[in-house]
Amino acid sequence: MLKDKDIVFLWSPDKGDTFLLNLEKGSKIDTRLGVIQHDDIIGRSYGEEVRTHLGSIFYILRPNMLEFSRRIKRKTQIIYPKEIGMIIVSLGIGPGSTVVECGTGSGSLTAALAHFVGDEGRVYTYDKREEFSRLARRNCEKWNVAHRVEFKVKDIAEGFDERNVDALFLDVPNPWDYLERAKEALAGGSRLGILVPTTNQIEKTLEGLKKHEYVDVQVMELLVRYYKINAQRIRPEDMMIGHTGYLVFASTVRSVT
Ligand SMILES: C[S@@+](CC[C@H](N)C(=O)[O-])C[C@H]1O[C@@H](n2cnc3c(N)ncnc32)[C@H](O)[C@@H]1O
Repeated sequence: MLKDKDIVFLWSPDKGDTFLLNLEKGSKIDTRLGVIQHDDIIGRSYGEEVRTHLGSIFYILRPNMLEFSRRIKRKTQIIYPKEIGMIIVSLGIGPGSTVVECGTGSGSLTAALAHFVGDEGRVYTYDKREEFSRLARRNCEKWNVAHRVEFKVKDIAEGFDERNVDALFLDVPNPWDYLERAKEALAGGSRLGILVPTTNQIEKTLEGLKKHEYVDVQVMELLVRYYKINAQRIRPEDMMIGHTGYLVFASTVRSVT
């Protein structure tokens, strides 16, 4: 049964309008189909419906990270769900993982990492700008995972405080400058992930990975194409997101002979 502070995803069968809400007793949400009182959702269950004051139906669905990341409040570029999925599986993030990340930015990846490490895991996220760290904390609180994250305001040029972590991710303009620092923090045989928006940055990253003796290097670009859902006329949507960033993955080893 849904209670105060739970998160719900509302979907209108009439217009396809969607809302992601943190339920709050006494609050309401204005939609173009009418007003929905949170109190009318509290006490119901996922899968049920709620009606606006004008009688329009919204279904109460379970929230997911895709919808959360799409709507996250941002003051920086963020990492998008298509990359987040690949990052999670490539870095082997799961319950109990310890992960280091820089920069925190708006916390889109931070929230996802914190989601997947579970209550047994830990995310250590660095940003040199306090305003971003604070915004990311608020975003993680909205997804109810901030308690799994340590938000650090620090320039990673000074190095990471952690050692033997399971995975590390860099989303900074010059990741090649921190590959030695990343290696100090990572456990042997563990994975580093990097996102860079331009191919010029891939080149410098690859040179750095070679210099610092990372192994099993992979570079990829992910494109997602949504399809129209008319069963009689199945075809791709006209518009798609053409470019977000390139992903680079590599592993640490103790020494390469
Ligand atoms: C593109 S944003 C990260 C976005 C984040 N991955 C997300 O999904 O919301 C890059 C961040 O890296 C931070 N940054 C850049 N260089 C840094 C450094 N040397 N140490 C700490 N933070 C750094 C910036 O302040 C900025 O907030």
